[in-house]
Amino acid sequence: MGRGNRFHLAIIPLLFLAFIGFMSTPVKAAVKSYQFNIQVKNVSRLCHSKPIVTVNGLFPGPTIYVREGDRVLINVTNHAQYNMSIHWHGLKQFRNGWADGPAYITQCPVQTGQSYTYDFNVTGQRGTLWWHAHIFWLRATVYGAIVIMPKQGTPYPFPQPDFEFNLLLGEWWNNDVEEVVKQGNKLGLPPKMSDAHTINGKPGPLFPCSEKHTYSMEVEKGKTYLLRIINAALNDELFFAIAGHNMTVVEIDAVYTKPFTTEAILIAPGQTTNVLIRANNMPSRYFMAARPFMDAPISIDNKTATAILQYKGVPNTLLPRLPKLPALNDSAFTLSYNAKLRSLNSLQFPANVPLKVDRRLFYTIGLGMDPCSTCQNGTQLVASLNNITFVMPKTGLLQAHYFNLKGVFTTDFPDRPPTPFNYTGAPLTANLQTSQSTRPRLSKIAFNSTVELVLQDTNLLSVESHPFHLHGYNFFVVGTGIGNFDPKKDPSNYNLIDPPESNTVGVPTGGWTAIRFRADNPGVWFMHCHLELHTGWGLKTAFVVEDGPGPNQSILPPPKDLPPC
Ligand SMILES: *[C@@H]1O[C@H](CO)[C@@H](O)[C@H](O)[C@H]1NC(C)=O
Ligand SMILES: *[C@@H]1O[C@H](CO)[C@@H](O)[C@H](O)[C@H]1NC(C)=O
Ligand SMILES: *[C@@H]1O[C@H](CO)[C@@H](O)[C@H](O)[C@H]1NC(C)=O
Ligand SMILES: *[C@@H]1O[C@H](CO)[C@@H](O)[C@H](O)[C@H]1NC(C)=O
Ligand SMILES: *[C@@H]1O[C@H](CO)[C@@H](O)[C@H](O)[C@H]1NC(C)=O
Ligand SMILES: *[C@@H]1O[C@H](CO)[C@@H](O)[C@H](O)[C@H]1NC(C)=O
Ligand SMILES: *[C@@H]1O[C@H](CO)[C@@H](O)[C@H](O)[C@H]1NC(C)=O
Ligand SMILES: *[C@@H]1O[C@H](CO)[C@@H](O)[C@H](O)[C@H]1NC(C)=O
Ligand SMILES: *[C@@H]1O[C@H](CO)[C@@H](O)[C@H](O)[C@H]1NC(C)=O
Ligand SMILES: *[C@@H]1O[C@H](CO)[C@@H](O)[C@H](O)[C@H]1NC(C)=O
Ligand SMILES: *[C@@H]1O[C@H](CO)[C@@H](O)[C@H](O)[C@H]1NC(C)=O
Ligand SMILES: *[C@@H]1O[C@H](CO)[C@@H](O)[C@H](O)[C@H]1NC(C)=O
Repeated sequence: MGRGNRFHLAIIPLLFLAFIGFMSTPVKAAVKSYQFNIQVKNVSRLCHSKPIVTVNGLFPGPTIYVREGDRVLINVTNHAQYNMSIHWHGLKQFRNGWADGPAYITQCPVQTGQSYTYDFNVTGQRGTLWWHAHIFWLRATVYGAIVIMPKQGTPYPFPQPDFEFNLLLGEWWNNDVEEVVKQGNKLGLPPKMSDAHTINGKPGPLFPCSEKHTYSMEVEKGKTYLLRIINAALNDELFFAIAGHNMTVVEIDAVYTKPFTTEAILIAPGQTTNVLIRANNMPSRYFMAARPFMDAPISIDNKTATAILQYKGVPNTLLPRLPKLPALNDSAFTLSYNAKLRSLNSLQFPANVPLKVDRRLFYTIGLGMDPCSTCQNGTQLVASLNNITFVMPKTGLLQAHYFNLKGVFTTDFPDRPPTPFNYTGAPLTANLQTSQSTRPRLSKIAFNSTVELVLQDTNLLSVESHPFHLHGYNFFVVGTGIGNFDPKKDPSNYNLIDPPESNTVGVPTGGWTAIRFRADNPGVWFMHCHLELHTGWGLKTAFVVEDGPGPNQSILPPPKDLPPC
């Protein structure tokens, strides 16, 4: 696919030039078309072969290869019994929320037997992103990579790799995931934890009875490789390392970084990390491994997924050795790793950090316990932002905004928590109810205003780290810390020069993270914890970014085939 497209791209301008002579014409953007058939298939994994929901019968799903500037058409046809919607995670979808994908936020789902063509331009972005189902927990098996090549003639700002590989880290249940979730909801408790972690859909030989389910990557001595690493797990932040090989981080979330070398990376659900490795060790077989990070007293699936890096020519019988991964609870590693992340901030790829702030938001993250009439114990675990547990609407919020439908949502989401308290003091386990309104409460943001949002973890029920994802934008992570955010002292330590730019950021356990962005993309943009467990419990909200006055500053009209509710 990728090679065919490159050939195609090269030939068109040549023919064009031959016909019109010496005029200097820019390379025309290409249109890339994909067909995604949502199908329930038996994909043999681990110790069973229960059918799973897939795209085109593949697990992981197909890779989308595009070049910066291309238009992409992806016709999603749903042959499964579940409603479906697909999110192109990290694509900014300028004025084009219709193609963003989160069910009931920007579209109604594609129902069984229906099709919807996601139609978008890839503008001003290059690097690794990914796509995944954005409804129920279906992204457990419905996900794949998006590779955006830089514009023709624009090299990477780092040594050109000889080869590239995608590594998708995942989380696997030995059951129908929707059934597992249903069980959990009935109890009002977390669903059963996953059975394994995977690398490119395979758990590797450390998992019992899976010897034949190991991903293997062949390398040649002396060559340089670009690894595009994606954390597609539902609920687990992961460490990843390769025995005998250090990694040089060069990009996160499709934004170039200042390169730094590390023995392990930390990657939260939703995030992507590009690293360079040199195959310069003794030719042998080496394990690549992924295992969770968890520094709160919460039991999780702590199993290690492995894959093999194998030098060309060495026999398959060599026993690989494991890399040294940080301990499960190594917060010191995660803090120092995150502190190394810096935007490249070059002339060609500047970090346009908003220096002046028009709108200051402070959102607390909490867990709670609300009454639940359908739950076995009469209560259910919930999660909240500023004590608000998000209630899912029955129609798309973007439609409601665009067509001015009344009564679907309100725009009174508070800029600050209702009652300030000692957010990260001793755990609070009493008075744990949250506020649940009948309609979603959103926050309205003026077009092109600059926003600073401080996400503050709290001690409500427990403290835990939360990877937050914002749709429609990248943001700059200007500051982070442990304990309570201090609006007088902490901003003086912000990095406003070269902070990391991303679409998903971890809020540390019992700490805070400050992000900034310019609201120049009108629409309704979802923001949520990328732990599916917490999203389901209501740890989410959305921004209504108003239209601007200019001709190109309002939401585009909806496509004709936008699914109805
Ligand atoms: C999938 O495998 C199960 C047995 O594990 C079998 O009963 C079922 O018919 C298979 N389904 C398909 C679509 O092949
Ligand atoms: C999408 O695919 C379906 C199934 O192949 C087809 O019926 C439909 O016409 C396609 N839609 C578009 C816009 O091509
Ligand atoms: C994509 O770009 C083309 C060419 O500029 C434009 O006609 C089209 O409206 C754009 N589509 C979207 C969804 O922005
Ligand atoms: C990786 O980097 C560490 C720290 O700089 C160094 O001690 C180690 O030797 C390196 N390992 C390899 C395989 O290059
Ligand atoms: C991993 O989890 C299992 C079961 O939950 C537990 O028995 C074991 O001690 C854990 N291992 C580590 C290293 O935390
Ligand atoms: C991590 O867990 C181990 C036990 O598994 C414990 O001994 C150690 O103190 C913990 N470290 C931190 C930083 O909490
Ligand atoms: C729910 O009820 C069962 C018994 O009916 C009890 O064992 C369990 O601890 C309860 N769980 C919670 C979270 O209250
Ligand atoms: C918050 O709680 C922590 C831990 O109990 C305590 O050390 C700290 O002094 C408290 N802060 C305030 C402002 O009360
Ligand atoms: C959250 O809202 C509920 C319901 O209004 C209230 O009982 C509770 O005290 C609030 N909690 C906090 C931390 O504000
Ligand atoms: C947004 O505001 C900035 C700073 O005032 C300005 O430079 C830029 O042109 C504005 N963008 C739009 C699309 O209005
Ligand atoms: C609006 O966008 C169109 C097509 O993308 C472009 O031709 C036109 O110059 C833009 N207008 C303004 C005022 O930016
Ligand atoms: C599928 O989506 C439609 C439209 O929103 C909705 O009416 C229906 O209840 C959904 N089905 C399920 C099983 O969620």
